[in-house]
Amino acid sequence: MRKRILVANWKMNYDFHETTSFIRNLLKVFFDRKINHDKEIILSPSFPFLHISNQILQGSSLNIAAQNIHQKNKGPYTGEISASMLKSIGIQKVILGHSERRELFFENNQILLEKIKIALKYDFNIIFCVGESLVERKNNKQFEIIKKQLEKTVFYCSSDDIKFFYIAYEPIWAIGTGKTATFEQVQVMHEFIRSLFLEKYGKNISDNIPILYGGSINDINAKNFFSQKDVDGGLIGNASLQFEKFLKIIQS
Ligand code: PGA
Repeated sequence: MRKRILVANWKMNYDFHETTSFIRNLLKVFFDRKINHDKEIILSPSFPFLHISNQILQGSSLNIAAQNIHQKNKGPYTGEISASMLKSIGIQKVILGHSERRELFFENNQILLEKIKIALKYDFNIIFCVGESLVERKNNKQFEIIKKQLEKTVFYCSSDDIKFFYIAYEPIWAIGTGKTATFEQVQVMHEFIRSLFLEKYGKNISDNIPILYGGSINDINAKNFFSQKDVDGGLIGNASLQFEKFLKIIQS
């Protein structure tokens, strides 16, 4: 059976104090309230706080993911951060292909493929996001779009490399908007994504690849999303910044 996975994408929100106190509180509450959960929890703070966050979480079952890496490993790329730098501070997971990176920072499939290759070279687990825009959905192009996004990136990888991936389906129109896709729309898309993995890599990989949903998940709707057959968890933005809400999502 596939494990449930929650990724808290804190984006460019929390400063040093907010990041560290959130993480310390979370560990304390898990301990004090004896919260038992069977989920894999991954927190994604901003770059400057990855190291300290990782240190605070040492010995716990929680993990850290970076929100991005550069596609090159070294050189004259002012302001950028490489996979090997992150590896040197013990980071092993990264979110790639988020729609904010695609739209605001012009990361196309070719750049994302380069990022995937460098991330795999340094043994990162990759939380890879795909998703269609509202216009694409209105024109019933969502399946075509998602297929293309995977074919031009993830599907260049070998079966061995696919084991390093989590896929996150994030319809762009549902991110940070308060509008969620319906549970049915999400299940149908996740089933479709799983069928693409079946076609490309066979049953074992398709049965085991984690597929997360992201887009306005909150403490009220989380349970329903997570009970869909092909939904293995969530990539959570806004609601992961609110301590009690996030705690409720963990317990969903
Ligand atoms: P949201 O963000 O939960 O605020 O919609 C999700 C995401 O961007 O990953």
